[in-house]
Amino acid sequence: MHLTNLKLSNFKSYGDLDADFCPKVNCLVGNNGVGKTNLLDAMYYLSFCKSSRGSGDVPNMRRGEDFFAIHGRYETGGVEASASCVCRKGQPKQMKWNGRVCKTLGEHIGRLPLVMVSPLDQGLITEGSEARRKFVDGVLSQTDRVYLDHLLQYSRALEQRNKLLKLFWEAGSWDESQMGVWDEQLVRHGEVLRSGRESFFTDFVPLFDDYYGWITDGGERGEIRYVKDGEGPLAEQLAAARRRDRQALFTTAGPHRDDVELMVGDMAVRRYGSQGQQKTFVLALKLAQFEYIYRHGGVKPILLLDDVFDKLDMVRVTQLVELVGSDRFGQVFLTDTQPGRVEGVFEAIPQVEHLICTVENGSLTKMES
Ligand SMILES: Nc1ncnc2c1ncn2[C@@H]1O[C@H](COP(=O)(O)OP(=O)(O)O)[C@@H](O)[C@H]1O
Ligand SMILES: [Mg+2]
Repeated sequence: MHLTNLKLSNFKSYGDLDADFCPKVNCLVGNNGVGKTNLLDAMYYLSFCKSSRGSGDVPNMRRGEDFFAIHGRYETGGVEASASCVCRKGQPKQMKWNGRVCKTLGEHIGRLPLVMVSPLDQGLITEGSEARRKFVDGVLSQTDRVYLDHLLQYSRALEQRNKLLKLFWEAGSWDESQMGVWDEQLVRHGEVLRSGRESFFTDFVPLFDDYYGWITDGGERGEIRYVKDGEGPLAEQLAAARRRDRQALFTTAGPHRDDVELMVGDMAVRRYGSQGQQKTFVLALKLAQFEYIYRHGGVKPILLLDDVFDKLDMVRVTQLVELVGSDRFGQVFLTDTQPGRVEGVFEAIPQVEHLICTVENGSLTKMES
């Protein structure tokens, strides 16, 4: 599956853009702030119906405009497909797949698998547990609709339960049976999340080990481990946390508190890892994410590598492009500020099909292909 053409209207820094791409490695080169990441973000929108930046829709409308539109043409298994996303101020956003409006955004997510590697991923290591849960949930949601459904229902139940805790506190009252309704919901969906995450880690860890070893030449061992918020049946955990919840006014136990431990050797990467080690770790996580989605969905995701070359030496950069340029991967988009570096890479590995474009003033210019 690959993106053959992208059209943008009023998306971020772009007025009108119409660009064709090659099925393998596409390089977007240009100075800081020219719109390279914005272009990747438009592709992200077509897969996930939202920005990779976690912003709402309106900030993505070109300054002074009141709508944006993104149209992508894809080729999947020799068949043409199209996706579009149109947002107008004050109106619900509209996603279309092959010209037909998607009734829900959830219906569309998963059709165009995509993995983005960006400097923001550093948050997987440096931020709190939410970032890591989102990573795991995100991968699972792309490959397992049932999981996504339970995740959405769990989140809804959690929100209602937290509201109720506040409501009871404000009213100075308590109703065990009302609370029990939400407990049942949390248990029903939460147990599915937990077992889904467990089997995810069983499959994911070997993929991670593989890529981590590849990036570090087997020099060190990175480790990831699923850390549940508590052991035993969820119903018992919720019951045990009852008094604490009433004081905290939110639900203090459950899968929404699970975490992932990231270690190099026997040390936490977050505390003791060097910048280089952290970067290696994140890259291995994301490449493993690619592999996981491919194995579970049968389609090679589009891979977006945003500014990943920084802090890597030329040997590593070349190895990385050779890897993602191989048959193991599908279409790739990468960004870089240094045209010389990108050209140098393809001089070393000319066999990899590629397209180099410079980005400037809201347009793309082909340099070579
Ligand atoms: N809604 C918007 N309207 C106009 N310009 C925008 C909008 N959102 C972002 N930009 C501009 O996009 C530029 C950043 O683009 P980006 O793709 O991140 O650059 P880079 O090439 O460094 O990746 C900034 O100059 C910013 O002002
Ligand atoms: Mg950028």
